[in-house]
Amino acid sequence: MSTVLVTGGTGALGRHVVDRLRERGHDVRVLSRRVGAGTHVGDLATGVGVRDAAAGADTIVHAASDFRRFGTPDLDQTRNLLAAAGGVRHLLYVSIVGIDAIPFRYYRNKLACERLIAGSGVPHTILRATQFHDLLAAILSGVQRLPLAPLPADFRFQPVDTADVATRIADLTAGEPLGRAADFGGPQVATLAELADVWRQYRGGPKHVLPIPLPGRIARAFRAGANTCPEHADGARTWAEYVASDPGRSYRLRG
Ligand SMILES: NC(=O)c1ccc[n+]([C@@H]2O[C@H](COP(=O)([O-])OP(=O)(O)OC[C@H]3O[C@@H](n4cnc5c(N)ncnc54)[C@H](OP(=O)(O)O)[C@@H]3O)[C@@H](O)[C@H]2O)c1
Repeated sequence: MSTVLVTGGTGALGRHVVDRLRERGHDVRVLSRRVGAGTHVGDLATGVGVRDAAAGADTIVHAASDFRRFGTPDLDQTRNLLAAAGGVRHLLYVSIVGIDAIPFRYYRNKLACERLIAGSGVPHTILRATQFHDLLAAILSGVQRLPLAPLPADFRFQPVDTADVATRIADLTAGEPLGRAADFGGPQVATLAELADVWRQYRGGPKHVLPIPLPGRIARAFRAGANTCPEHADGARTWAEYVASDPGRSYRLRG
């Protein structure tokens, strides 16, 4: 048994990481800014509470991120975590497939965090995953009532289930730090139009998709599937299984 600190342990992915690690008998600490939401209160942005949460932990899973602010605070947050992580045996950072090929602001900040960790001297593993089912669900639930939903219909995704990613994270943290782990993707690559078709079968909308031809390098990269890793289609749960399992749930993007 080891003591593991999970940052972002209250988030969409982190909740599953916490469950998986506890099932395996680890002593799991959950950092959160909100009193009562985790086991330790702390704010990575200021560093307050982070040292206490990390004291004596052998392993850290760093899954906290601020997507709503395009990850701008993530660099300071990661720096503060590294400063508190002295003596840790293994730090695992959750990143995103293709971030070095897609000049999206959030991805640039994720890449800067990867580089910070790689140069920190802390034994680490960086795991890049493809977009989570929950993210695609948030996008599609946001447009499902529109008669005509404007979407970048030809963007490609390889949606992956957070429970599958969490299992991979639990496996990796049990092993030696790898530097960079093999990418982790969902079982299938599909266009957003195809994902919307499945969504419609279970949620009744969006009735029609209006394909928006977005210009620029970011859009070109998503159209080409630079955010996918079909050679690592290792996640088990399909998009259809995910959508069918919980058709009434509401989704939101947070951070
Ligand atoms: N979403 C995707 O499709 C996707 C795909 C691949 C990789 N990833 C990566 O996977 C990781 C988890 O993503 P997610 O979607 O599960 O995240 P999420 O649901 O948005 O949760 C964000 C988490 O970050 C924590 N957090 C944010 N700012 C913090 C701060 N200043 N101090 C302490 N904690 C803070 C939040 O904790 P509290 O609010 O409780 O404080 C929350 O637990 C991220 O690194 C993300 O880049 C995401």
